[in-house]
Amino acid sequence: MKKFVRIIPVNKLPEFQKRLGKWYRKNYRRLPWRETTDPYHIWVSEVMLQQTQVNTVLNYYSDFIRKYPDIHSLASADLQQVLKSWELLGYYGRARNLHKAAGIVAERFQGYVPVEYSQFRQLPGVGEYIAAAVSSLAFNAPYPVLDGNVKRVLARLFTIKEPVQRSSAYKLFRQAAAYIFDPDNPGQFNQAMMELGAVICRPRNPQCAVCPVLTFCQAYATGRQQDYPKKVARPKTPQYRIAV
Ligand code: ADE
Repeated sequence: MKKFVRIIPVNKLPEFQKRLGKWYRKNYRRLPWRETTDPYHIWVSEVMLQQTQVNTVLNYYSDFIRKYPDIHSLASADLQQVLKSWELLGYYGRARNLHKAAGIVAERFQGYVPVEYSQFRQLPGVGEYIAAAVSSLAFNAPYPVLDGNVKRVLARLFTIKEPVQRSSAYKLFRQAAAYIFDPDNPGQFNQAMMELGAVICRPRNPQCAVCPVLTFCQAYATGRQQDYPKKVARPKTPQYRIAV
């Protein structure tokens, strides 16, 4: 925590949030799930985006929403039909869970996605990421999201040396995200962090020259943006010579 405060002092946080928000509002990609506040639509998009690239999701999201425009239509649909609509997205477990969760929401919550984080989080397939994303984007609830893009931004901002994949690093990333979080604009803040990671703070060749929060970034200040996020070194694939 002390390290975060040293890099972006508490009194500089409003400036950080302001610059990030302003950049996002001007530059964000007009993706269909960003043009809605319907929690079910946002939920569908986040489930699709969790393991699939934006460009691929763009090909399926609108068709899926047209076929299943609300919780009730998904809940009453035949599972095999739903899986068919999901066909090319892969990771079917996501579709099965979404269908099952829709059934629960239809039955127990009259078709309304629960506003209460803890109730929503208990639904099948709703992990911490989905719960934070939907709660913040649809209901403006104060939960920071942590996906790969956001972790990369945080690792660079604060030169976090723990490898991203390591479970011990998770707490640190959570603390960093909570530290810079803008509680007045939870949805916009989360979208902006994800967008910054996706289009500016990219894994290779980050576009630092046009980054709205460049002056806050410790990796940039030390010329080490390419060295973050740290990864666990993968052991070499062993090669055996065998005779047959
Ligand atoms: N990846 C995950 N969630 C996203 C979102 N809401 N917009 C763009 N990319 C995303």
